[in-house]
Formats: sequence, structure tokens, C-alpha cells
Amino acid sequence: MLGSLLLAGSRSPLARRAVSGLPLTRKVVDRFVAGESAADAVAATRRLTGSGLSVTIDHLGEEVRDPGTAVAAAKAYVSLLEELRPLGLGDRAEVSVKLSAVGQALDPGMALENARQICAAARECGATVTLDMEDHTTVDATLGVLRALREDFPETGVAIQAYLFRSEADCRDLAGSRVRLVKGAYAEPASVAWQSKAEVDRAYVRCLRALMSGTGYPMVATHDDRLIAIAESLAVSAGRGAGDYEFQMLYGIRADRQAALAAAGSRVRVYVPYGDDWYGYFMRRLAERPANVVFFLRALRGK
Ligand code: FDA
Repeated sequence: MLGSLLLAGSRSPLARRAVSGLPLTRKVVDRFVAGESAADAVAATRRLTGSGLSVTIDHLGEEVRDPGTAVAAAKAYVSLLEELRPLGLGDRAEVSVKLSAVGQALDPGMALENARQICAAARECGATVTLDMEDHTTVDATLGVLRALREDFPETGVAIQAYLFRSEADCRDLAGSRVRLVKGAYAEPASVAWQSKAEVDRAYVRCLRALMSGTGYPMVATHDDRLIAIAESLAVSAGRGAGDYEFQMLYGIRADRQAALAAAGSRVRVYVPYGDDWYGYFMRRLAERPANVVFFLRALRGK
């Protein structure tokens, strides 16, 4: 219930103004967001890669409504990648892109062109790009852009949301690609998505099976210990070694678990968001876990 309200709030301009204007919101946002500037993202990248983790960096922003902002978002990625290049991290530092931030809703052709420029800049660094997945109405368009990008940049990956009924089939279709499997973070109707945690978890395992038995590179993006253990055992059954798949978690969430998995020899990538358009991302993180709302309210009361 609270989660649904927060997800509805994540799309409300009124709630955006109210939450963004609250004193101390920034302090809580900092728990989930690496900072506002590219320099902040680079600093977080140095810190995380220095401790044996990999990163995927997200320049925060979504649902842009004018071409200028979409082009500026693509440029932000290109200049971030230029800053990363001298670090020589190769694919230990990749980027994640929401197509809505580079103009998908305005003009799919423009979004494709902007995404292409980001892929070209990533390749210059030996890095890859993963397309985030947004609400269910955008899945076909996102997979269409992915197909077009993969003609020139076959290393491009995509997030697939286990909660959607269609995703098991999408995982089979994409089983030769880089695929980030997530549970799904948007409020979706019962006509298209599993609703209970148990159903979503079962669907996640079915998708995992398809990806692990394929020829691609599964990116297991979850903080859920049970699913992490299942992924490890499916990888062994499929004859995959530690470098043949990876775990991914969000910046600021279960950092101890991220470190422990890496110390045990797994590849672990942290999703590092940065930028000033943090509102939608922040609200989805609150919606995932009521305890985060308590943390938020305590900080607002100065405790
Ligand atoms: P679940 O929500 O069941 O959580 C399992 C446990 O993890 C919890 O019990 C808690 O301990 C911890 N946990 C989870 N979320 C937490 C939080 N916010 N704060 C504190 N603890 C938390 N979604 C999407 O729709 N499109 C996308 O492109 C992406 N991209 C993406 C990239 C990466 C790298 C990750 C890790 C996740 C995404 N997501 C996403 C988000 C994803 O869909 C999902 O909402 C979150 O990962 C939470 O789901 P879990 O699998 O962690 O399980």
C-alpha cells in the first residue's frame, strides 16, 4: 500500500515539488545517490573499483520533455566516459541509460541516435552500455532500440523485469546477450505483471534459468539472498565460472553483502546514480522498502 503510494508520488509533479523542497531531504538522498556532478560519480567509481567492485553509472533523469534536455543527457554521458577513460578500467566501469532520458517519448529516432553516441563513447573506453527498463508501455520500444544498437554494438545490454508476464519469453529471446535481470520497480497492473513477492520471485527464477542456460552474459541484479544462492547454483549447473556472469546491486544498499560476494570471488557491479534529477529514482528506492521511509522521516525530524 505504502509502496504503491510512493510509486504514484514518483510520477506526481506536486509530490516532486513538496519532497524536493523538504529540509534535509538531500541528506537522505545521499544514501542512494553518489552526488550531483560527474566528478562525484568518478570519485565513487575510484572508491568502489579500488575495493574490487565494478560499477555501472547512471546519469539521473527520465521522461525528458524537450529535445535539448535529451541531447544534454547524452552529452553528459559522453563527457563522463571521457573522464573515465584515463582510469583504464575497461568494462569495470560501464554506464546505464534510461531511454526516456535521451528522448524516447519525444522521438524514438532521436533516442536511438543519442544512445548510439553513448555506445560509441563507451566503446572508446572498452566499456559497455546497459539500457534500463522503464514501465511496461516502453518495453517493446526499448527492445527495438536495443536490437538496432546491437547491430553496431553487440555488447549492449538491457534490463529485463521478472515481474512482467512477457519476460520469461524475452529472456529466452535475449539468451545470447548481456541481460540484467531485475524484479521490477514500477507500479504495474495485474493484467501485465505478477503482483505478489512470491510470484515475482518464482518468475525471477524461471528467467534466471533461461539466461543461465543461454550463451549470453547474465547480470543478476538483486539484493535478495535466496535468489543470489539460486543464481550461484544455476551457474554451477550450467558450467559457468565466476567470470561468466555477475551480480549487481544498487549504490548504498547492502554494501556489506556486495563486499562479501566480491571477496568470495564473484564479479559484483554497483549501480551508481549521480546528478540532480534524483527524485524518481529516490522515490522508487523508498517504495521498495518501508524501512527506508522510516529512515527518511527520522532524518527529517533531525534524529
Ligand atoms: P527485494 O525488493 O525483495 O529485496 C530483497 C532484500 O534486499 C530486502 O529484504 C532488503 O534487505 C534489500 N533491499 C531491497 N531494496 C532495498 C532498498 N531500496 N533499500 C534497502 N534495502 C533494500 N528496476 C527496473 O524496473 N528497471 C531497471 O532498469 C532496474 N535496474 C536495476 C539495476 C540494478 C543494478 C538493480 C540492483 C536493480 C535495478 N532495478 C531496476 C530495481 C529492481 O527492479 C528492484 O526494484 C530492486 O532491486 C529491489 O528488488 P530486489 O531484487 O533487491 O528484491
